[in-house]
Amino acid sequence: MTLPLHTERLVVRELTADDLDPLAVVFADPAVLWWEPAPYTREQTSVWLEATLRRYREDGCAEYAVVIASTGDLIGDCGPAYRDIEGERLPELGWDLRSDMWGQGYATEAARGVLTHAADLGLRRLYSLIVPDNERSRGVARRVGMTVERQVVWAERPHDLWALDLP
Ligand SMILES: CC(C)(COP(=O)(O)OP(=O)(O)OC[C@H]1O[C@@H](n2cnc3c(N)ncnc32)[C@H](O)[C@@H]1OP(=O)(O)O)[C@@H](O)C(=O)NCCC(=O)NCCS
Repeated sequence: MTLPLHTERLVVRELTADDLDPLAVVFADPAVLWWEPAPYTREQTSVWLEATLRRYREDGCAEYAVVIASTGDLIGDCGPAYRDIEGERLPELGWDLRSDMWGQGYATEAARGVLTHAADLGLRRLYSLIVPDNERSRGVARRVGMTVERQVVWAERPHDLWALDLP
């Protein structure tokens, strides 16, 4: 499956510089970047977006845009980004949605599509870093078939490292 991915209700595609406005709304939501001291300013989102576009070129993947197919609204991100996890460089699948879009299965739907895409990219195993009390994120990981592989410390916090072998 190549990008853009078309799932039942979503389009998952690479972010572009034109996505800054709706992405800034996602990252300005304090419920989304709850682990940061404050939600992102537009400038901080712009820096994150630039880094993500660079990762597409350098790593071949990174977080993608999650868009409602029927409206074209960008509601979040989902995709594999390489991270250094206790000395290993591993592809980590992450997901963030604007909080008014929670509870409708969009993150799970996007993640399922991205898993198929990641297999086509040649990735054999995907990981997700989730703090143990992030119940919503654990729910997404569980629904897409991931299981906890081990506990790790990442960004100075204990995380469960969820993992899934790709077909
Ligand atoms: C993590 C996050 C993306 C999960 O969002 P979410 O809306 O709970 O997850 P989904 O979109 O998969 O939706 C699942 C919910 O929709 C319900 N649902 C409704 N229709 C559904 C459908 N068609 N398919 C699957 N689930 C559906 C599920 O029953 C579940 O309900 P619940 O909230 O009562 O458990 C969101 O909470 C978030 O952005 N959090 C902040 C950022 C963050 O923590 N990111 C992860 C860092 S590790």
